[in-house]
Amino acid sequence: MTQKTILRALAGERLPTPPVWMMRQAGRYLPEYRATRAQAGDFLSLCYNPDLAAEVTLQPIRRYGFDAAILFADILLIPQALGLDLWFATGEGPRLSTITHADQVAALKPVDAIHETLSPIYETVRILARELPRETTLIGFAGAPWTVATYMIAGRGTPDQGPAHAFKAADRAAFSALIDRVTEATIAYLSAQIEAGAEVVKLFDSWAGSLKGQDFDDFALEPARRIIAALKAKHPHTPIIAFPREAGPRYAGFARAVGADCVALDNSVSADWAAAEVQTDGCVQGNLDPRHLVTGGEALATETRRIVQAFSNGPHIFNLGHGITPDADPDNVHRMLEAVRG
Ligand code: CP3
Repeated sequence: MTQKTILRALAGERLPTPPVWMMRQAGRYLPEYRATRAQAGDFLSLCYNPDLAAEVTLQPIRRYGFDAAILFADILLIPQALGLDLWFATGEGPRLSTITHADQVAALKPVDAIHETLSPIYETVRILARELPRETTLIGFAGAPWTVATYMIAGRGTPDQGPAHAFKAADRAAFSALIDRVTEATIAYLSAQIEAGAEVVKLFDSWAGSLKGQDFDDFALEPARRIIAALKAKHPHTPIIAFPREAGPRYAGFARAVGADCVALDNSVSADWAAAEVQTDGCVQGNLDPRHLVTGGEALATETRRIVQAFSNGPHIFNLGHGITPDADPDNVHRMLEAVRG
């Protein structure tokens, strides 16, 4: 049996045409997503409805034939499963009840309790494992502990992760206990996704770039290393993609340090630099600026081909440097795919 293209790239194979998928490929830029979401009611009802969550996961596969599907869910379901309130204020992004004291860390639900909340997500994975085309790889995911903790502490997205940095400075022991609890929950959550049929998992550390020096080692690198070691011990054949967004020079050596099979590059990293300094370690994923899918034109094709060319000497999965935005033109995705696949 010929292996799926994404799995071949993750095993270190250089392919003549890189496999391709997009961060946030199921989303508001697609009219069919907006229709299903309206049917579900709100965003969280969609996440917890296995049939509809599977449906929106499949929509971009039907429309574009991407090489991978990413489970439709959210990184903030873990805090909810650990006992925090979570809601999405329309047009304002996520809101959570906050963690501001050591007592509240201790009062979080035990890790074993998360499956009660998260079992519909595993059902979505099982449906997708049955329904995806045989050539499409199913990717599961979770947020990395630092990124998830920034939302648990602030109760919302923050431009500079100020509240999380302040909590870390005020009580490093309590902050570390929170990171440990999220780390353990993430191991249990990703293991369950793999057992339900996820073929690859990705760890999103969207705010890794705001950790510097020793903090980067302690709270970006070390939790990722622990999660990956635990998953590899149980599921040695499941490849893992790490995404330490805006890690800059710390992308070099990151995959090896944490034991990941691939590192996802954000669009602030130069493709030529990453080909020389990061891809030498193994597979890389990335890194088109998602704004090109809004603006389109010749720049979209030129920039797409430049990235494919820069990474053409090693294993590469073509992707965006961050999620596609709601104002993107769905036709520009076809133009990007033409430029990748020729
Ligand atoms: O298609 C996919 O990529 C899979 C599903 C997915 C979503 N969120 C769906 C979603 C994935 C992998 C995520 C990850 C996620 N969620 C991250 C890490 C990646 C990143 O973007 O840096 C983060 C930080 C979140 C938290 C989150 N969820 C925020 C800040 C928001 C609001 C911002 C926004 O885009 O509205 C969400 C909501 C969210 N998650 C949407 C989707 C499709 C939009 C919700 C809607 O339909 O209104």
